[in-house]
Amino acid sequence: MEFYMIELNTIPLVPIDSMNETHLEEVEIINTLLTQLQAKADFVVISKTFEELLEHMQEHFATEEKMMQDAHYPSFRMHKADHDKVLNETRYAEMEWRNRKEIDALKAYFEEEILTWLDQHIKAMDTPMADFLGTKHARYGL
Ligand SMILES: [Fe+2]
Repeated sequence: MEFYMIELNTIPLVPIDSMNETHLEEVEIINTLLTQLQAKADFVVISKTFEELLEHMQEHFATEEKMMQDAHYPSFRMHKADHDKVLNETRYAEMEWRNRKEIDALKAYFEEEILTWLDQHIKAMDTPMADFLGTKHARYGL
């Protein structure tokens, strides 16, 4: 089976540095998880990384949502809905992983769903958000 890792320099950049740093951190956790899945690491090891990723995603989304709310960003609800959707899907993937312990299914979820989602979300949601906050709300010092 082929092995995919996310090249860090392929992550789309937005005009707010703190958001880019968060995206890079998240991709590093995803790459760790993909490496462990590829190596067929122990269930406990993979589960621990998966848990770490879910915590990072929650923190990442909550931070962006607070930034949007503070700035009265007009597309807040649409952006938050995209966060909620992927978080629910990833929680479901974790439940499936814990119940079935299927390495290939989890690997496919990340390679086929999450990698595409991340690229599209950064381009379609995070970039316009960062543009809005960066230009119209520069006074917030974000
Ligand atoms: Fe986002």
